[in-house]
Amino acid sequence: MPTPARSRRSAGLLLACALAAAMPAWAGQVEVLHWWTSGGEAKSVAELKRLLAAEGHGWRDFVVAGGGGEGAMSVLRSRVLAGNPPAAAQLKGPAIQEWGRLDVLANLDDVARRQQWDSQLPRVVAEAMKVNGRYVAVPVNVHRINWLWINREALRKVGARAPATWDEFFAVADKMRKAGIVPVAHGGQPWQEFTTFETVALGVGGPDFYRKALVQLDAKALRSETMGQVLETFRRIKGYTDAAAAGREWNAATAMVIRGEAGMQFMGDWAKGEFLAAQKQPNRDFLCVSAPGTARSFIFNIDSFAMFRLKDSAAAQAQQALAATIMSKEFQQVFNLNKGSVPVGTGVDMGKFDLCAQESSAYFVASSMVNALVPSVAHKMALPEKTEAALKDVVAAFWNNDQTSVPEAMDALVKAAQVK
Ligand code: GAL
Repeated sequence: MPTPARSRRSAGLLLACALAAAMPAWAGQVEVLHWWTSGGEAKSVAELKRLLAAEGHGWRDFVVAGGGGEGAMSVLRSRVLAGNPPAAAQLKGPAIQEWGRLDVLANLDDVARRQQWDSQLPRVVAEAMKVNGRYVAVPVNVHRINWLWINREALRKVGARAPATWDEFFAVADKMRKAGIVPVAHGGQPWQEFTTFETVALGVGGPDFYRKALVQLDAKALRSETMGQVLETFRRIKGYTDAAAAGREWNAATAMVIRGEAGMQFMGDWAKGEFLAAQKQPNRDFLCVSAPGTARSFIFNIDSFAMFRLKDSAAAQAQQALAATIMSKEFQQVFNLNKGSVPVGTGVDMGKFDLCAQESSAYFVASSMVNALVPSVAHKMALPEKTEAALKDVVAAFWNNDQTSVPEAMDALVKAAQVK
């Protein structure tokens, strides 16, 4: 007969063995910083975890919630400064170069050669992923910003068609308001305000104006008559949002459109991920249309993961596997089907994608051919972090304070453009 102490010990041993058997023995594990927490986003991340697990590697979530990634960037900074970076972090555009200059990123050239990234990726995308000619980051998708999402039933109720011009847009918005529907679902956060603002800038001013004003930060363009019209139009949209918008998350705003409480939302196509996660179908339940005046142009937002140099060799191997998985055709398809975006590489079968994605994919190529493809400022694709933050502050302050005049806002934009 075992003594009680012995039997407790062997029971403990059995439990430990059972747990060990239940837990997969990962070859390596990657810790990944991201801000994908909404319904559609979480489904997309789950696919990445699944594919990585199939390669024998584990994934540790390092989530800093908050759409647009504002919170995530400051948390990342403190982790890297403390000498303890995650394996991968959602980083985009110029930030990849900024981190690259600090010499803390890993070299992905071996995987890139094996999978021929140079020939698979559009040149602008490939260049954005390299620092000093070496791959340090891997792109996940292409999001289009300048969409207007519309609840189909709300549109039918007011007997209107999807608006193509700003006049039509405001006419539809008036009708929705009369019918007791919130015309524009908005989340009152600076990045969401800037998402709408840059969409209006493109719709009112066109791609050349957008580039001059928001990418080159040309003072003349920032103080021009066109910018005046952009600001007026932007302010007018605010009149069609509800009083409870302050602080609302973007996906809560999308949920209002999904439920039909609100009619429309300006948002990038991660919003589609929310409609799909709620079992809604494009054209049947909701419409994706180019925001007024932007049908032939495209504000792009490319999600990517930068990889940090690691000391642990098993984790470093898992990191290389993560990069390879992200660029695999299987991942690019299944992830983007959930996320609302389109694959970034060539050769992915678009047959399974819905109309919104097929349009986005075609517009991406077409707008690039006619020089109407512009980077998103709101989503960190165009400017140094500090300049972008200063511009966002100005736009949010203008949106939130009706007393600020248009010329005052233009002056403030010129000033913010000088922040480096
Ligand atoms: C963007 C990001 C998208 C989406 C969105 C809202 O900055 O590029 O993938 O997640 O934020 O969270």
